Amino acid sequence: MDKKALEALLQDMSLEEKVMQLVQIPGSEYEADAEITGVTRGQADDKVKRLAGSTLGVWGSKRLKKIQQQYIKEHPHHIPLMFMLDVIHGHKTVFPCPLGQGATFDPEGVKKGAEVQAREASADGVHATFSPMADLCRDARWGRIMESTGEDKFLNSRMAVAMVEGYQGDDLKSPEHVAACVKHFAAYGAGEGGRDYNNTELSEHTLREHYLRAYCEAIKKNPAMVMTSFNTINGIPATGNTFLMKKILREEFGFKGVLISDWAAVGEMINHGFAEDQKDAALKAMMAGVDIDMTSGCYSGYLEELVKSGEISEKMLDEAVLRVLNMKNDLGLFDDPFRGIDPEVGAAVTEESRKHARKVVAESLVLLENKNKALPLNKSDSEKIAFIGPFANTKRLQSSWAFSGEDENTVTVFEAASEIYESGNIKFAEGCTMMDQDSVTARGICHVDNWQEKNEKLLSEAVEAAKWADTIVLCLGEDSTQSGEATSKASLKLPEVQLRLLSEMSKTGKRIVTLIFTGRPLELADVAKLSDAILVCWLPGTEGGNGVMDVLSGMTSPSGRLPVSFPYTVGQEPLHYDMYSTGRPKPASGPSEYTSRYLDCENGALYPFGYGLSYTNFEYSEASLSKEKMTSDETLTASVKVRNIGDMKGDVIVQLYLRDITGSRVRPVRELAGFERVSLNPGEEKEISFAIKEEMLRFWTAEEKWESEPGKFNVWVCDSSVDGTPLEFCLE
Ligand code: BGC
Repeated sequence: MDKKALEALLQDMSLEEKVMQLVQIPGSEYEADAEITGVTRGQADDKVKRLAGSTLGVWGSKRLKKIQQQYIKEHPHHIPLMFMLDVIHGHKTVFPCPLGQGATFDPEGVKKGAEVQAREASADGVHATFSPMADLCRDARWGRIMESTGEDKFLNSRMAVAMVEGYQGDDLKSPEHVAACVKHFAAYGAGEGGRDYNNTELSEHTLREHYLRAYCEAIKKNPAMVMTSFNTINGIPATGNTFLMKKILREEFGFKGVLISDWAAVGEMINHGFAEDQKDAALKAMMAGVDIDMTSGCYSGYLEELVKSGEISEKMLDEAVLRVLNMKNDLGLFDDPFRGIDPEVGAAVTEESRKHARKVVAESLVLLENKNKALPLNKSDSEKIAFIGPFANTKRLQSSWAFSGEDENTVTVFEAASEIYESGNIKFAEGCTMMDQDSVTARGICHVDNWQEKNEKLLSEAVEAAKWADTIVLCLGEDSTQSGEATSKASLKLPEVQLRLLSEMSKTGKRIVTLIFTGRPLELADVAKLSDAILVCWLPGTEGGNGVMDVLSGMTSPSGRLPVSFPYTVGQEPLHYDMYSTGRPKPASGPSEYTSRYLDCENGALYPFGYGLSYTNFEYSEASLSKEKMTSDETLTASVKVRNIGDMKGDVIVQLYLRDITGSRVRPVRELAGFERVSLNPGEEKEISFAIKEEMLRFWTAEEKWESEPGKFNVWVCDSSVDGTPLEFCLE
């Protein structure tokens, strides 16, 4: 439909019809088993159901086709319904959770994964995914850190951009693609105390320099939608925040697409104490520029009245409706309301999608410890390996946000091992239950009958298997219902029952390779003491077992790097490497009284951002700069040579960090400004260069401007956020 026809359609619509384009209702209004991702309040009446412009949480080619047919038939202007779904890290083929994808430092691989997800979702009738989540997360207590790509704004920007590009492709009309939604605008990851939905207090410079960056970069790629966040920012709920939505999002970032609220967030402004009632909430959200009200019922209940009374102008309403109609048009829904749907097959896991997922899993694994080269396995043909622990043979390897993927497609670690090793050389023992008795999860309390007896039995079986084995692959971690939405935690330890298993295993004196499955950083100091190797596996998804075994068996060398700091203790949270220096920084060595420090713990992470080991070794030459001074229109090049000095092929993630030494406002001690994944054969050397431009040196100055300031800068080209020797250059 061309622009004129679209506007003519708008003019022809009744006020009621227009308002309803801005209303999104839960998929449970159409299908009883739709995924409900928030609290619902009552049922939509017939009129709302007939006219609401979009719905969420339902998928499946046959049923969406049926719903669409019926809907179009009854709609006065036959405008198609839009179907949205949380395809967060996979629809049918489930990729590693976003935090795991961050660990790959491979935006190309992530983009290709998003393409797979878009194709599968579209074949199942879905038009838009609520992804990427570009929230910056510096607090491991927040369970939604699993849905982010980590603590760094630069890495997050690259990954959010890759996801938008992968989901949307070049043309939204293509039935291989779906619309992306950048969320949760803004600063949802900065909730006080790491508690979900909690308020955020952020200075404007921290907000702009750190928290807004990844959204901003992703928005430059024209995502069809942006979602508001649940939190307040400096006292004003994001969903009613005019400064955030009008000034920053629309005016400064130039966002032209559809702004949707998060689940019921419009109505939640009443609980915040920002809106008096539903009508007031609808008014405040509209005034802030929220186009679609996801499920709160405020727009369906009160928008018409607000327009009739003149509190909201018809012009404002029309602009919002036009944005929604435009999105439907961009998706090609007016030409083909059944776009993408494959009614025969729907979406399916294919060999090709599995192949890519397996590669991404292998790239995402982070080797934290490898004492005496405990890994790779395969010490000899007769090596006996016991796979022990609640994650050793479970198909629950995907996060709580991968609800459209089926467990039965998942390959477990032990299943994958069975493909590689003789059955006489491997054994499985569950070892213990996943959780401690009566653990609280997002979905309720987990109670296991006869928990004590069950665990005694599992433990004695595990001890038997361990005694038989040469090597124990101990598969521990956090259950997938303990990260994701509404899963904040005040402890970052593994469950007691798993720690007891580890301790009993260590008493056998066997080599212990510990795999950690998790959606958040955990406290691993005690685990490290008792393990010969530690490999972080995240929540790896459908090809989890195969990807993990590719690395354990030595077919591929591990190459993932931490996208987030792993603390010594939860008391260090929020923890991130790109902090500001104090006036009394703790010295690297020597006396540290009266400096900024903890008496009982290091300041930095146990395993820092950017860190990860390989089976091979890489040697970095001294880094060099192409010149020592640059003007604002010049480019400076920082280079280093990296050589594989081991005997195995491997990928290394070469990282560029910058520091503005003095500024009108203090600057972080280091900031990631570039990275490159480099493959090297044994003995091979490559020179890696990064271009440094003036725009990379900009920040929110004391003058409240986004600019660079002349002066001295440090550069590191190195292997992690705590590695390397700084070079210096000057911006004139
Ligand atoms: C979450 C969003 C999600 C939405 C729709 C909300 O509870 O915060 O991230 O996209 O539900 O399912």
